[in-house]
Amino acid sequence: METKRFSIQDIDAAAAAIRGGQLVAFPTETVYGLGADATNVDAVKKVYAAKGRPSDNPLIVHVAHPEMVAQYAEVSPEAATLMKAFWPGPLTIILPIKPHALAPEVTGGLQTAAFRLPDNSATRRLIETAGVPLVGPSANTSGKPSPTTADHVLHDLNDKIAGVLDDGPTTVGVESTVIDMTVNPPAILRPGAIDAAMLEPIIGPVQTEAHHVAASEVPKAPGMKYKHYAPNAQVIVVAPTDFVAALRDYQSRTEHVGILATDEILAQLPPELATFSLGHDVRTAAQALFAGLRYFDNHPNVQFVLAQVFPTVGLGSAYMNRLLKAAGGARFDSGRV
Ligand code: TXA
Ligand code: MG
Repeated sequence: METKRFSIQDIDAAAAAIRGGQLVAFPTETVYGLGADATNVDAVKKVYAAKGRPSDNPLIVHVAHPEMVAQYAEVSPEAATLMKAFWPGPLTIILPIKPHALAPEVTGGLQTAAFRLPDNSATRRLIETAGVPLVGPSANTSGKPSPTTADHVLHDLNDKIAGVLDDGPTTVGVESTVIDMTVNPPAILRPGAIDAAMLEPIIGPVQTEAHHVAASEVPKAPGMKYKHYAPNAQVIVVAPTDFVAALRDYQSRTEHVGILATDEILAQLPPELATFSLGHDVRTAAQALFAGLRYFDNHPNVQFVLAQVFPTVGLGSAYMNRLLKAAGGARFDSGRV
């Protein structure tokens, strides 16, 4: 099947493909999602197959209006308040499902499901025109960095899906915050652009502890246990003040070292390196992170990528969560050299 690139003028054709049980990737403010009719079990199964995703990792249900959620889940007053405050936006809300409302393929067999109303008007029109909610995991091959452009989607899924709705690069760049509203106090299962400091004035205290889960346990957010965002090179996380020392250390092992850092850091380093700019602050860094990780996959010589640390506050927590997964936890320790 040749994958079509739909423009935002082609919503009707994209919606027809969805209604026909096919897969169409869609843009959101965070990353591109791999869309399928959430009420069509065969279509949902195709999503797992196209991504190579383990079937116990549940999918987010994307809606066009907050009212669509009540058909499938119990919406508490607190959950309704969150929707009002943050939707459309990068917040995914876990709710208890109504019996038999969603196929087990969508929820990974859980009695809860994840809902999100993305801040992209073309995608909201797509959902409305299709007339069904869309499942939408990130539209990458499982284990690879999430896609922030239609080209990233095509790189991973060309010929495996019917189409991709191209609305240019995404703006936030890291996936939505996932908040579990089925526990008390509510728990952030995945950090994103909407952090505890933004949620707490609306719903009171939330749990933010990192959920470290061994592969054998049943985790709260099943997706968190799998290898993620991994480029071919080994990523090493480096503090802004350590780049010169880290470069000296890694260049003593190989001449093929890549740098993923802000312009300010790049300006301090020798010009002949393979580099990808993270722009100038945490906002541009979050936007560019996955594109940067993918960039070094196109430079197969690069063995190590030295990637910049940001403070773990606000969006920085989401950025560092993804970067540390990409690095498998590897950090440059300046005391070591
Ligand atoms: O920004 C995003 O959320 C993007 C865009 C496309 O909307 N989507 C996305 O989907 O990141 P995905 O499938 O890559 O990540 C969904 C996360 C996974 O970690 C999954 O395990 C978790 O949400 N999740 C889904 N349903 C859940 C549930 N019922 N309980 C706990 N975690 C759940
Ligand atoms: Mg994903």
